[in-house]
Parts: sequence; C-alpha cells; structure tokens
Amino acid sequence: MAEPLLQVERLSRRFALPSPRGAQLHAVDDVSLHIAPGESLGLVGESGCGKSTLVRLLARLLDASEGRIVFDGQDIAALPAAAFARHVLRPRIQMVFQDPTDSLNPRFTARDTIAEPCRLLGGLDAAAAHARVDEVAQQVGLPPELLSRFPHQLSGGQKARVGIARALAPRPQLLILDEPTAALDVSVQAVVLQLLDRLRRELGLTTLFVSHDLNVVRLLTDRVAVMYLGRIVESGPSRQVFEAPAHPYTKALLSAIPGHGPRIRLVGEVSSPIDPPAQVCRFASRCPAVHDRCQREAPVLRAVAGGVGQHAACHLAPAGVPSSAP
Ligand SMILES: Nc1ncnc2c1ncn2[C@@H]1O[C@H](COP(=O)(O)OP(=O)(O)O)[C@@H](O)[C@H]1O
Ligand code: SF4
Ligand SMILES: [Mg+2]
Repeated sequence: MAEPLLQVERLSRRFALPSPRGAQLHAVDDVSLHIAPGESLGLVGESGCGKSTLVRLLARLLDASEGRIVFDGQDIAALPAAAFARHVLRPRIQMVFQDPTDSLNPRFTARDTIAEPCRLLGGLDAAAAHARVDEVAQQVGLPPELLSRFPHQLSGGQKARVGIARALAPRPQLLILDEPTAALDVSVQAVVLQLLDRLRRELGLTTLFVSHDLNVVRLLTDRVAVMYLGRIVESGPSRQVFEAPAHPYTKALLSAIPGHGPRIRLVGEVSSPIDPPAQVCRFASRCPAVHDRCQREAPVLRAVAGGVGQHAACHLAPAGVPSSAP
C-alpha cells in the first residue's frame, strides 16, 4: 500500500458543557483512519454523529483534545489551528462547506472570494491571483461574467461552484467536502456531484467526502468509513462494505436503499454523547443484535473475515486477518 497522505491516529474532540459537574460532549472519540494519495474516502453517518467536527479537525479549523493527524509525514494536530492558518501546509488541505450561502462573504464578489486564499496562502500578487481565478472558474464551469457578482446575485448551483473554486484555488492535495450538495435542489445536486467527480479525477485530488446519501458515496468513493456517535464503526472498500456490511448499523443504513434487502428499522433512542460509558457499545441502545457482552465491553475496530481491508467494531463481526490499517 502507498504511504498514506493522511493518517489519523486516536483522534478525539470533546466539548465542555456549561454544567456544574464539568460534563463533556464526546463529539469525536478515538478515531483512526487513513487516506492514500489520490484516494476518495467517504464518511457517512446520521446527523449529529460527529462528521463535521471530525473533518473540521482534519482541515485544522478546530483543535483536537487528543490524537495525531499526520499529513504527508508531519503531525499537524500538534499545531494550534490559529498557527496552522499560516503554516506552509495550509494551502494543501482545503475544505468545501455544506451551505454556500452561509460560507460565502456577502460583501465579496465571486472573484474576490475565490482570489482570497490565493493571495493569503499562495503568496500570489494581484495579477497572478486574477489569472488563477480565471483558471479555476473555467475548471468549475463558472462563466467569466458571473465573477463580478455578489452571492445574493447567484443561484445555489453557482454559489456551490464559487465555494469549490475557492477551495481549489490554492492547489490543494487533499480536498475535504462536508455534504457539499446538501443545501442544493435535487436537480442541481447531480450536476455538482458530476463536476466534483470529474475534478477529482482530472486534478488527481485526494478527497474526503462527507455525505448522508449512501448512493452518492457508493458512486464517488473508493473506500468508506461509517460513523456512529463519535466513533468509526465500520470501514473498508466501498464496493465491499455496500455488498457485505459487517456492522449492524451499516446494515440498517444500507437497508434504506431500494434493492438492499428488507428494511431494518432501528428502534430505541440514540445514546447520549455526553460522558458516554466507556465499557458499553455506543450502538447497544438501538442494535437488533445486542447481547450481554455489549453492555460490559465496548467493541474495537478490527479486521473482519471475508473482506480485505474491511474493519468493523462489533463483537459479532467474524474476525479476519489484518491486511491494512483501518
Ligand atoms: N462547538 C460545539 N459545542 C458543543 N457541542 C458541539 C459543538 N459542535 C458540535 N457539537 C456537538 O457535537 C456533536 C457532533 O456534531 P457534528 O460534528 O456537527 O455532527 P454531524 O456533522 O455528523 O451532523 C453533536 O452532538 C453536536 O451538537
Ligand atoms: S457490539 Fe453488540 S450492540 Fe454493538 S453493534 Fe455489535 S452486537 Fe450490536
Ligand atoms: Mg455536519
């Protein structure tokens, strides 16, 4: 296997809650994952499971409570987010945000928005930044006459293209996309997803693609990681995980897709992410296969039988021979 571009080791982020007993919300809890150069990794899971917190940690917009984020051989978790903002690696990791309306400055034209990271991160002068904006605008299919418009003068799809162009402008190696089409009309979503897939291939990008739409993840990713209550519960090659999921949560998620067998409806409440008990499986409150052991021993992510590179955190998943890191 090629050296990973990104290697995440035992990463956690807790948020202190305003409570007298010092309660903490465990948004990301002991997550390990890797992404090889040129690979597309999907990250799926229900709303509130910690996807945005995890990718904001990886994009170094948020500081970790614990763990390592090794990018191209350097532990970037060791630097505070404010220091990383000026780091030489900053241009190489860029992010596309969920809602272009929220993430674009209403006082900036499309050209200013796209040019900003080139000037700040790429050290380009005004003329070079202007030329770079023209280049990325063409790559994302933004006509030149739209570049002088402000966000409120653009459609949802056009704003999404501005957000993508801004992220591409500093020539990143790793592009992190946090539900990039969730705020768009369905008809526009497909066009933007096709654009992202084409850009990924043409520019040789490494991508981390967050989505709650499993069909999209199947089409656009090589590997997938499934998140539940702050933890990765399953990971592996996308085709394999979709054909033979090993974790009961993944099975339930996939059963919602037509043609994936009978629908598994999860009953029971999602457990609280506030100070969760360390010895209990996070999925126990909803798992159709819960048994005694799940209440006294939290499962760890380990290789499962039958799938090369597939890992699951469930006592019932048949143990396999480790062939790669999670
Ligand atoms: N700044 C914060 N302070 C406190 N809790 C937070 C903060 N940001 C996120 N959370 C909590 O962390 C959990 C994960 O949130 P998030 O990462 O946004 O999930 P997702 O992107 O999967 O919907 C949620 O319970 C959310 O309420
Ligand atoms: S460890 Fe137990 S509760 Fe957790 S997913 Fe497996 S069977 Fe379900
Ligand atoms: Mg989110």
